[in-house]
Amino acid sequence: MNEEVPAAILRLLDLLLKARGRPVDLLRLRGEADTKDFEAAMRQLVAGGCHLERDPATVRLVRSGLGLWKQYLEHVLCDGPWRRIEIYPTTTSTQALIKARPTEALLVLADEQTAGHGRLGRRWVCPAGTGVLLSLTHQLDLNQPFTIDRLSFLAAVAVAEAIERIIGTTELIQIRWPNDLMVNGAKLAGILVEIIQPVGTAVIGVGINVDLDHPHLIQLPPSLRDQVCSFRLCGWPADRLHVASEIILSIDQHLQAEDVEPAITQWRRRNLLNQEMVSLRSEGQTITGTVIDLDPDEGLIVRRQSGEIVHLHASTTSLL
Ligand code: BTN
Repeated sequence: MNEEVPAAILRLLDLLLKARGRPVDLLRLRGEADTKDFEAAMRQLVAGGCHLERDPATVRLVRSGLGLWKQYLEHVLCDGPWRRIEIYPTTTSTQALIKARPTEALLVLADEQTAGHGRLGRRWVCPAGTGVLLSLTHQLDLNQPFTIDRLSFLAAVAVAEAIERIIGTTELIQIRWPNDLMVNGAKLAGILVEIIQPVGTAVIGVGINVDLDHPHLIQLPPSLRDQVCSFRLCGWPADRLHVASEIILSIDQHLQAEDVEPAITQWRRRNLLNQEMVSLRSEGQTITGTVIDLDPDEGLIVRRQSGEIVHLHASTTSLL
């Protein structure tokens, strides 16, 4: 659906998304939609790919349609930094796509990736139509200390807070440094931050398991099955478009904040590795020690068994 979508349809979609899979009263919807031809607006939602369930008194959004994602995101993100929005039914990787066009301000989402990847070349696999797969650019202010470490922890806190806003809870989502968002020990989302030099643009990629379900889990090796989770598996109804929009808003808000301290406090509360003894691989070395804290720009602070304090950067370190 490429033609201009009337604001009333986007308002309807917004109301249905925020109901999080619950039926919405038709009279209320009619009242709030503020359109003369309500039925035509409903037909446009369906034409945009939305799957609706109706009975005489209510309507329920089962799934938003990809055909409306671009217009909806333009609508809800209009007060944030401008980026061209592109939505792909399938692509290699939203991250790779942005890195191939390093001078453009972009927000790219895909229904499916054929070569999704995480840090240090690891694969990111997500069955088609089940995840939020997005990458966005952030123009660095070269006078500010915007390291990968800083961007990674800000993005992790931003995504954790957005998820909790959607499901209506607090401090449930933990962060496994540097870029995993965890629920009860299972991975819900991953973040990949890269900086394109010499352009001075950061690319932030986020993958979130939303509609991943038991039949998908069965296809994973048994050892991995209890290591991943999703909104659906956790029993949190949410549409991918709603999740995407809240996450982008939250990332932009955190990237614009002048004071990093509130985010550090949030990170500390969510730090899954707090005071844990860990082994990490960094620049060819194995380091074992206790996780002490995080420095926004110098990375994870670890006390080695010898007592030496080391800082480990997100871009070059992995947990063993
Ligand atoms: C990780 O867990 O290591 C990070 C995973 C990041 C995956 C996202 S999905 C959207 C974007 N495109 C990619 O190829 N990777 C990121």
